[in-house]
Amino acid sequence: MRSTISVIIMVGIALSVQLACAGPISKRATGPRVVGYYTDWSNVDPSTLPWSDYTHIQYFSAVTQPDYSLQYPETSNLDSLISNAHANGVTVSLTIGGWGQCDYCSSACNPTNRATFVNNIVAAVNKHGFDGVDIDWEYPDTSASGPSMQSSPEDTANLLATFQAIRSQLPNAILSAAVATQPFNDASGNPSTDVSGFSNTLDFISIMNYDTFGTSFIGPNSPLDNHCNLGYYPGASASAQGSVAAWTGANFPASKIVLGIPGYGYSYTAYSTSQYGSASSYASPYSKVNCPGVTKLKTGIHGPIKCGTNSTSRRRSRLAKRNGTGQIAFVDMVNNGYLQLNQTSQLYIAGPGWTRYWDSCGTAPYIFDGTSTLIAYDDTDSVWAKANWASQNVGGIMFWEMSQDDLGNGNFPLINSMNWALGRK
Ligand SMILES: *[C@@H]1O[C@H](CO)[C@@H](O)[C@H](O)[C@H]1NC(C)=O
Ligand SMILES: *[C@@H]1O[C@H](CO)[C@@H](O)[C@H](O)[C@H]1NC(C)=O
Ligand SMILES: *[C@@H]1O[C@H](CO)[C@@H](O)[C@H](O)[C@H]1NC(C)=O
Repeated sequence: MRSTISVIIMVGIALSVQLACAGPISKRATGPRVVGYYTDWSNVDPSTLPWSDYTHIQYFSAVTQPDYSLQYPETSNLDSLISNAHANGVTVSLTIGGWGQCDYCSSACNPTNRATFVNNIVAAVNKHGFDGVDIDWEYPDTSASGPSMQSSPEDTANLLATFQAIRSQLPNAILSAAVATQPFNDASGNPSTDVSGFSNTLDFISIMNYDTFGTSFIGPNSPLDNHCNLGYYPGASASAQGSVAAWTGANFPASKIVLGIPGYGYSYTAYSTSQYGSASSYASPYSKVNCPGVTKLKTGIHGPIKCGTNSTSRRRSRLAKRNGTGQIAFVDMVNNGYLQLNQTSQLYIAGPGWTRYWDSCGTAPYIFDGTSTLIAYDDTDSVWAKANWASQNVGGIMFWEMSQDDLGNGNFPLINSMNWALGRK
């Protein structure tokens, strides 16, 4: 998992006092966790969210500054998010970081600066009445956390010590981390073989099982598994099942793992071999599948599809930085007519000009326009399959991110499908 998306962050003194007496809501909750990232840029009115479909919200996100303070939008939406969540028995944590947004996490967590950083975190939690803290450093001790990210061999040990320091100041807070499909790197730069220090301190981790093929090769964004044992998969942990096995193999209990499931896909431009020669190096799972008229799919070049969620200027500036990744949200696929609802079956079928295929190797759909554009994505079928597997094997699911299936009028088909799969409906 090389190229990754980033992830995301509010209020209520009276509520925090009430919670301090009652204990955090999540510690009373039973059943699978359903964790949703609420992005500050999405500007979704919190009162319109499907509250019964979630148990935990992560407010995305607070960006660590050079002086180890935290910068995040302290808006009326944040106040509303927290008050709506608490009225519905849902917790809200403050997310720190996100891909490319943890620039100073390495030095913030080191022994010299840790106390300052932790005090700033605790102050933010108390100021707004958050229920917990979610750190999305994602890739300690690697350069994969984003452009010009600091890293050090001590990162993972320092991250654990930081969580322990937060825990000692906020004993009842919900502590979580968004993590890659392999355990945090150890001091030698390899995946840790024992992360029980984290499982003893954290309430849960969210495995980011997405961006699996990213822009390098055409493939499923979030494979459930590698049923066909395709050698193209980027490593044994490049699926829901493989990544959970990697973390449990390093002593992180499955009950504290939530499986991250995306609400977006990737668009790719596909070329037939006659258009660009013999290039044999463009193998991908889908070259094994019958895309009509295409025998090879050239990757790394993206089609005319506009990517991502169409909302605020902040979102647009982030997209501009990543121009070319070809990410596209489920809501935009529907709104652009690439997908449409079959009113009879209540399933999302290909819109005019597209054909839908099912990748039974990765357990997810893709659509193809017959000539040049392929979109690998997740729909109500594939998220159902992943959430169903999660309900039997781990402690819940995480959805990145809550606005990506917001079709309006209270219609959130992906999280709805996942709740059915989890036995919550
Ligand atoms: C994006 O949003 C703007 C403002 O709401 C709208 O004018 C524009 O048509 C949208 N673009 C797409 C591709 O949906
Ligand atoms: C991406 O780049 C293309 C070509 O340079 C440009 O036309 C388009 O507006 C860019 N898209 C975004 C979202 O910045
Ligand atoms: C819609 O779903 C119904 C019921 O499953 C099915 O018979 C029909 O062929 C579907 N229509 C399309 C256009 O796929």
